[in-house]
Amino acid sequence: MQLDDLYREVIVDHYNRPRNFGRPEKWDIMVEGKNPVCGDEIVIYLTVKDDVVSECRFEGKGCTISIASASVMTESLIGKSLGEIRLVLSDFNRLLRGEVCQRCEQYSDAIAFQGVTKFPVRVKCALLAWKTLEGAIPDSGTHQA
Ligand code: FES
Repeated sequence: MQLDDLYREVIVDHYNRPRNFGRPEKWDIMVEGKNPVCGDEIVIYLTVKDDVVSECRFEGKGCTISIASASVMTESLIGKSLGEIRLVLSDFNRLLRGEVCQRCEQYSDAIAFQGVTKFPVRVKCALLAWKTLEGAIPDSGTHQA
């Protein structure tokens, strides 16, 4: 199996069985985002205890890439401090710019999205959840690793 095929399967699996999908009963941070190109919307909920994300969930509607990417993002952030989240968000942005990101292998299935850079119109889809969360964690876009 080619690597591209494997990554495609991983993405489709996250779309079909999105992890951490659905609104939690309680949360500390809620942020909503929209892809202005297609109108797809997403809502992210974070529960934070002692500066560490104990729960990260999402809901919304979107294409395969956007929902799968949100699913991967939630898995990547649980257990991270808010400072570490800035690093994860920055790393995923770098990956979607086509830059090398060795740490991305540690973020759930984030690495499966590296091929999305070949389809510039899909990069916005892949970044929908991540850019939305940046709105709640403002320093994330400027962090340099
Ligand atoms: Fe709407 Fe991908 S087409 S987020």
